Amino acid sequence: MVTAIFPAAGKGRRMQAGMNKAFMELAGIPILVRTLLKFSDCQAVDRLVIAAAEPEVQFVRDILKRLPGLKPWQVVAGGSERQYSVWKGIQAIEDAAEDDIILVHDAARPLVSDRVIRETIRTAAAKGAAIAAVPAKNTIKLCSTAGEVVETPDRSLLWEVQTPQGFRRDILVRANEQAAADGFLGTDDASLVERLGETVHIVASDYRNIKITTPEDILIATSFLAEEQEKSLLKSNLENMFKTFTEEIREKFIRYED
Ligand code: CTP
Ligand code: MG
Repeated sequence: MVTAIFPAAGKGRRMQAGMNKAFMELAGIPILVRTLLKFSDCQAVDRLVIAAAEPEVQFVRDILKRLPGLKPWQVVAGGSERQYSVWKGIQAIEDAAEDDIILVHDAARPLVSDRVIRETIRTAAAKGAAIAAVPAKNTIKLCSTAGEVVETPDRSLLWEVQTPQGFRRDILVRANEQAAADGFLGTDDASLVERLGETVHIVASDYRNIKITTPEDILIATSFLAEEQEKSLLKSNLENMFKTFTEEIREKFIRYED
């Protein structure tokens, strides 16, 4: 059994759209929906768990109920940090077996490819822990808090990490339990697994799998999307449905002050 967990409980502050960016439209369809469809359409994925902000849980359920043919899904309330949102998603799937695979994927990465999803599952099943990543394009400096360069790591050894990140369930559960016990907060899921001494394996991903974070990312994602020609993957009635549905979404999403 392969379960994909989607942390979607952020506020999208850096996007400065006054709303959770997961509900922003990309070529007419909310980012979260595009992301979920990628996994729902992937043969190797069995079910979807979405961690939504507590006040947005019902809203997300209402959207997903209207998507025909979506794989089995459930929406749980997320937490104040991404790591806590993921942990709540993991805890919601109690019926899973130890050697089941759990994928974690940012709701804000709708451009992930089917190949990367499948490769991550395959590597996680074979080796226990696998993360999508791309070779660093830029030179990266390690600096002091005072802004002085300390060291220049060899770029050929540096990878920019993305999601999906896939794990055997028992490893990911242990990693999150240990992090909670130690009060450790990581910036990705694999960093919790690394603390256990488990080896994490890289899956070569592609540069299109960006995390939509700041306003210019919408422009970039829109052009990638055009190239993807994924319209053919989406049922055309789905697109039409969203033409009318987007008005409702615009009225109902929660607006934030900052
Ligand atoms: N996320 C989450 N729970 C949180 C914070 C973030 O589930 N408490 C999710 C976001 O919804 C997003 C993913 O984690 O899909 C990656 O986080 P990020 O890109 O930082 O999104 P936001 O936290 O929403 O954006 P920002 O940091 O700019 O506010
Ligand atoms: Mg964030």
